[in-house]
Amino acid sequence: MYNLLKGKKGIIFGALDENSIAWKVAERAHEEGATFVLTNAPIAMRMGEIKNLAEKTGSEIIPADATSMEDLENLVEKSMEILGGKIDFVLHSIGMSINVRKGNHYTNSNYDFTHKGFDVSALSFHRVMNVLYNKKAMSNWGSIVALTYMAAQRVFPDYNDMADNKAYLESIARSFGYYFGRDYKVRVNTISQSPTQTRAGSGVKGFTGFLNYAEKMSPLGNASALECADYTITMFSDLTKMVTLQNLMHDGGFSNMGISDVIMDDFIDITEE
Ligand SMILES: NC(=O)c1ccc[n+]([C@@H]2O[C@H](COP(=O)([O-])OP(=O)(O)OC[C@H]3O[C@@H](n4cnc5c(N)ncnc54)[C@H](O)[C@@H]3O)[C@@H](O)[C@H]2O)c1
Repeated sequence: MYNLLKGKKGIIFGALDENSIAWKVAERAHEEGATFVLTNAPIAMRMGEIKNLAEKTGSEIIPADATSMEDLENLVEKSMEILGGKIDFVLHSIGMSINVRKGNHYTNSNYDFTHKGFDVSALSFHRVMNVLYNKKAMSNWGSIVALTYMAAQRVFPDYNDMADNKAYLESIARSFGYYFGRDYKVRVNTISQSPTQTRAGSGVKGFTGFLNYAEKMSPLGNASALECADYTITMFSDLTKMVTLQNLMHDGGFSNMGISDVIMDDFIDITEE
């Protein structure tokens, strides 16, 4: 380990179980010397697994529904009390679409579900930053990261309304990131991660298709949750101080590929050979 986050204080949203990307970020942040508060929706607490992570990393848990300003204000105030000062890093690792869960086709969305998914997956990032900004809770040269997926830029049919939520999320990172940078020297970025086998990921129809296709297309293969955590740690460290307003691809090269030999082989007409 490199002590990259020695003395830094953070808030980590979204560790549900040991497959969660946020779970790996918490483990890695702990190894790199950070102290932090873990948070998740009250309903996720009932599953209880987050307690194991809290014990392992010496962290406290503060439940917060990321769509509730009251919960977020309480979270940020209590976190500063517990951690003894301002916050150096925040991970937003939250995503949920009821249309995806219920199997509603994109062309026939239930708009109450669309609203809810948008509130949880995208607007929550604005809410979190609103509270941090207005409470002056971030340290100078702090870092805020949200996780996203490339369906924000390109079509992946069964990613459904999560594609739109991610596009909005990435835009919020730039828009809010401007004010955070100008006023507090805080950087705001999104990390666009490969398909990863987690609770949220597996909810997408045909998910193994996404996963296997991306694996075959990417020169380095898919990035794992742990590798995503490693990258996130560098974004929280002082080694990336001048990176802001970016959507950072963490996908083994997938996003710049046209076609790979392996995929091409599946389509070559045998009579040509
Ligand atoms: N798994 C993938 O393939 C993949 C790829 C790219 C990006 N991502 C993104 O990574 C992030 C983390 O997802 P994951 O794959 O680790 O899955 P996950 O299911 O482990 O994490 C999603 C988290 O969102 C939390 N959440 C849901 N509603 C909430 C609310 N109202 N308030 C607070 N928290 C709430 C859940 O409790 C859960 O902890 C998400 O933004 C996801 O879209 C995932």
